[in-house]
Amino acid sequence: MKTEELIEYARTARNRAKAPYSKYKVGAALLTEDGTVIMGCNIESKAYPSTMCAERVAIFSALARGYNRFQAMALITDDGGTPCGACRQVMLENLGNIPVYIADQNGDYKILTVGELLPHPFH
Ligand code: THU
Repeated sequence: MKTEELIEYARTARNRAKAPYSKYKVGAALLTEDGTVIMGCNIESKAYPSTMCAERVAIFSALARGYNRFQAMALITDDGGTPCGACRQVMLENLGNIPVYIADQNGDYKILTVGELLPHPFH
């Protein structure tokens, strides 16, 4: 699948984000080994720490559905923001060293591997 196509899935996921408190919507799309796309969006809670990030929604959803081998992940936010530390750790533990496409609303994106996102990890 083309990079831009996976980013489009992330954009669709981002439209499902529930971010009434931060207003910062995040979309994620995870491409599995067999070509399935599993999407995630951030979902905020009135009890703020109960919020879950888009990346972890996608990863946990994929694992729960029995997928554990992945080709790539796409993320999209307004400003091309990179994943939080907690998500980087979960990505490293579950995705392997795959490329992560990090896009903004203009369609610009950068590509970083999971290993580049979290050097010197806790194992
Ligand atoms: N958020 C994500 O979905 N992924 C990240 O890696 C960083 C932060 C969400 C959590 C919260 O809903 C909003 O962005 C602002 O922090």
